Amino acid sequence: MSPLEHRFSDREQVSIVEMSPRDGLQNEPMTVPADIKAGLIDRLAASGLQRIEAGSFVSSRWIPQMADSDSVFKQITRLPGVIYSALTPNLQGFERAIHAGADEIAIFAAASEAFSQKNINCSIKQSIERFREVCEAARFRRIRVRGYVSCTLGCPYQGEVSSSDVAFVVRELLKLGCYEVSIGDTIGVGTPVKVQKVLKACLQETTTERLAMHFHDTYGQALANLLAGLELGIRTIDASVAGLGGCPYAKGASGNVATEDVVYMLHGMGLDTGIDLDRLVDTSHWICAQLRRPNHSRVALAQAGSEK
Ligand code: HMG
Ligand code: MG
Repeated sequence: MSPLEHRFSDREQVSIVEMSPRDGLQNEPMTVPADIKAGLIDRLAASGLQRIEAGSFVSSRWIPQMADSDSVFKQITRLPGVIYSALTPNLQGFERAIHAGADEIAIFAAASEAFSQKNINCSIKQSIERFREVCEAARFRRIRVRGYVSCTLGCPYQGEVSSSDVAFVVRELLKLGCYEVSIGDTIGVGTPVKVQKVLKACLQETTTERLAMHFHDTYGQALANLLAGLELGIRTIDASVAGLGGCPYAKGASGNVATEDVVYMLHGMGLDTGIDLDRLVDTSHWICAQLRRPNHSRVALAQAGSEK
């Protein structure tokens, strides 16, 4: 057995958290109607995805693309066993998410002070205080809370970000009660050794089961970076079908790594995701046709090419 094979047991489960309805569509230039968003979510669930971030309840002045998330939640045809979650920046967003029927919520902090100000208009410390009341409200309602840390491998405003700053925010989010913290390479600048350095710093605060990897693919490093994290034992990955998306407050950043590309790699390594790759690729082509935009998944493109 090669050293790499040693690290993975056959059919080991990897949990994929699908980002496209939120992280993907929040940055689309065209207005995407709620029924298309719900259609995307239903197709993703039918392809076997069990964790889908279906929208966000943020200020519509800041992110107009997500203004109709309540309508999207209403139009989803819920599949049993699927968790439909929502991103919330404050108590107002939390109340809206619960009213809309979100199963789970996610809060989002940054490891870079400058990004925190640009993205949520407050300091990191103020954001943690804001999230404290969200987490208390969530605990009261028995709603699970996921956390994100943005700019863990670099910031569009500040540049370098230290591993200890990332680990600090991870610790704070866990203290607030997040069951899992997703480590975001918001602008997709990380490379594998640096990724391992940051993840190891986070693993000083918690276990592999409570960390997730959220890598945007701007510089084409995301799959290599995921492999670096998988080697450390992390088994939860955020991804976006067709590589949709980007962050409006991180100019030039492309979407998350494409879900199809992640699934292809994992299945090729003998790992299990519970996802039907063919159905996922169909969904990828469907949403790109709806949005009239090119597909950024190499697997979707390769499969379309091989059918000609
Ligand atoms: P603010 O302007 O400082 O907020 O924004 P405020 O409390 O002063 O309120 C201003 C107005 O917004 C008020 O309305 C509020 O009612 C309203 P007015 O009285 O002026 O008419 N408002 C809201 N409306 C609806 N829902 C709400 C809400 N909250 C306030 N929840 C705020 C602060 C946090 C609200 C704003 O900055 C915001 O919404 N930011 C969201 C930014 C965002 O969504 N960014 C993208 C997602 S993060 C991301 O993509 C990264 C991630 O993928 C991980 C990674 O890649 O690293 C997660
Ligand atoms: Mg993101």
